[in-house]
Amino acid sequence: MEEEVTIENLPGVGPATAEKLREAGYDDLLTIAVSSPKELADAADIGESTAAKIILAARKLADIGDFETGDVIFERRSRLRHLTTGSKSLDELLGGGLETQAITEFFGEFGSGKTQIAHQLCVTVQLPEEKGGLEGHAFYIDTENTFRPERITQMATALGLDPKETLKKIHVARAFNSSHQMLLVEKVKELSREIPAKLLVVDSLTAHFRAEYVGRGALADRQQKLNKHMHDLLRWSDLNDGVVCVTNQVSAKPDALFGDPTRPIGGHIVGHTATFRVYLRKSRGEKRIARLIDSPHLPEGEVVFSITKEGIRD
Ligand code: GTP
Ligand code: MG
Repeated sequence: MEEEVTIENLPGVGPATAEKLREAGYDDLLTIAVSSPKELADAADIGESTAAKIILAARKLADIGDFETGDVIFERRSRLRHLTTGSKSLDELLGGGLETQAITEFFGEFGSGKTQIAHQLCVTVQLPEEKGGLEGHAFYIDTENTFRPERITQMATALGLDPKETLKKIHVARAFNSSHQMLLVEKVKELSREIPAKLLVVDSLTAHFRAEYVGRGALADRQQKLNKHMHDLLRWSDLNDGVVCVTNQVSAKPDALFGDPTRPIGGHIVGHTATFRVYLRKSRGEKRIARLIDSPHLPEGEVVFSITKEGIRD
């Protein structure tokens, strides 16, 4: 596992500045490295030229900003693994399942299947690789109290897994508000030193943020917090070669504040990792339609899958 360099390692960042930066969400090198001098100066109450120096140092330490050749990127990407959703067509849409070292976001209206998919992944992640799993544990950050062990039992049984053993490998925490939710990711990072987890679910990513940051005045603040949250999640997926699955409820009609449902939330995510966004719609009965949006390397497309008693299927 990679040793993390902290922001105190940056020249010109003393304890007081470090604290201000952390409070403003600039708590790791990458976040600082991609910020602008003006932004950083405002956040930490420092001069713009000092901020520029700090950013430059962060870029060096964070090892970003360099060119690399396509074959190096190809090599790195060929080491990525995939987690099955239980549905072949949904897996195909995603290029073979949910990618490790990335965040996959399922968004859609109530009942579109976000929580069902999240449950299913907690089970399939435990399968051996030849069956589409990653042989790992799952963390589930539950903001809406919709985690149901009974449903896991059904899904595990359908896959020939022992339900009790399966449940033992799913680590669930309720998040009571958005800052608690963010704190839980820190906890997950800590626990991942002991627990061989390959999946981190946040269901729902956005509910608390929406409820707490109301009105246009709060929009920038919410965006900044969400950015940091997404960044923390991405970081976890990188360090653990794990899959991150987040859910996001959007109404069928665009939300005045949250905007067009097909536009990325959490802003622009940096790093080597991709973020996948899957839009879910209800169809007849058990049928659901999934559409991949904004993927950097996969064609957009739509597939149909089903939510059955056994879990997610074609
Ligand atoms: P919100 O969290 O409200 O935004 O919705 P969601 O997208 O998380 O929806 P969820 O994944 O909870 O989907 C709920 C739907 O899944 C239900 O309306 C049912 O159609 C289906 N479902 C849930 N449990 C079962 C089950 O045991 N068997 C079958 N066949 N379908 C189920
Ligand atoms: Mg749900």
